[in-house]
Amino acid sequence: MNLAVLVFASAATLTTFALDNGLMRTPPMGWLAWERYRCDIDCEHDPKNCISENLFIDMADRLFEDGWKELGYVYVNIDDCWSLKTRDKQGRLQPDPKRFPGGIRKLSRYMHDRGLKLGIYGDMGNYTCMGYPGTPLDKIAVDAQTFADWEVDMFKFDGCYSNATDQEQGYPLMSKALNATGRPIGYSCSWPAYQGGLPPKVNYTQLGQLCNLWRNYGDIQDSWDSVLSIIDWVFENQDVLTPAAGPGRWNDPDMLIVGNFGLSKDQSRTQMALWAIMAAPLFMSTDLRVISGEARSILQNKMIIGINQDVLGFQGRRILKEKSGIEVFWRPLSNNASALVFFSRRTDMPYRYKTSLSKLNYTADSYKVTDVFTGKTDILKDSTDFVVSVNPTGVVMWYISAAGKLQDEPPQITKIDST
Ligand code: GLA
Repeated sequence: MNLAVLVFASAATLTTFALDNGLMRTPPMGWLAWERYRCDIDCEHDPKNCISENLFIDMADRLFEDGWKELGYVYVNIDDCWSLKTRDKQGRLQPDPKRFPGGIRKLSRYMHDRGLKLGIYGDMGNYTCMGYPGTPLDKIAVDAQTFADWEVDMFKFDGCYSNATDQEQGYPLMSKALNATGRPIGYSCSWPAYQGGLPPKVNYTQLGQLCNLWRNYGDIQDSWDSVLSIIDWVFENQDVLTPAAGPGRWNDPDMLIVGNFGLSKDQSRTQMALWAIMAAPLFMSTDLRVISGEARSILQNKMIIGINQDVLGFQGRRILKEKSGIEVFWRPLSNNASALVFFSRRTDMPYRYKTSLSKLNYTADSYKVTDVFTGKTDILKDSTDFVVSVNPTGVVMWYISAAGKLQDEPPQITKIDST
């Protein structure tokens, strides 16, 4: 084979496998059923919380009416336990007619009428994690087409009951099959989570060409321990993970559990702040019908959402781990701006952490600093020492821009639609 043929052949392979849907140039935002609602299918005794069309309609109403949609939270995503245990006569997946009497098409129409989007769930194996029908290799084409026929906008492809060999074929095949439907469908792959999340088993270059987002670590639970273990894993592996992220391809540390039962106010702020540093998809999994004002104001914080949605799409890093238990995180943003998070692992009292911007690698003379939770601003010289008081398991988060320029306003949300 001469060189030209070789180059052509490898370019053709790339095009064949590249995910070409133009979606999710900033991390997707919305709501996902799993963490809060699991596999509750008992609609007879628990009608408000069971996995049924009513639940997704209720959440869509809340997103639409309570100011979430304008902030970018547009996806309403079904997770496991939506289907019947058997396929229909044509071999297609079918929703449980008792719980989804209008079918999935009714739900996608409901979302689209309101400027929202619908996501659905499947599994690259014989069964989903909860034992519903999976999508083994020979069913990939038919299932992708079914989701497109239902006008679904996003698809999460889980990996229970599949092996590494099947996954190697199945995840790329599904990417192609979704593309082949001609419908733009955001593609969330759980593949790396089933392969330990790290090279050499996981090839992040390939993933970025196949999937819009991917889970690479265990499931989030409603606890601080769980949130902390995710934070630790992501930042311990940041050298591998940060280059993988960018417009259209995101590491997914799993859902936001703010609004549930496991996190204090400070811990909720920490999750929101660090998910923004990580350029993480923001999928809430909480009951938006009864969410507290406190949780809502954290999830609806415009500056943090603006940081999460920054158009450059760089995933941020941990830049310091102090013996005192303070850690500092940094994310570069567009317009020469950046975000800093001071996080305390301590369990005693608010810690007064003293540093300066030059100690944190800032070299321009002076900066405008905005505290994203209080809205307070300040002009800081790089050499000036300052003190931030960081609560136990909490954060202080700053948006930082060069001082004195007109364009250095805090980030604004310019997009309604997070695709
Ligand atoms: C796996 C996934 C979860 C959820 C469940 C559903 O555990 O990682 O996010 O989808 O399956 O059964």
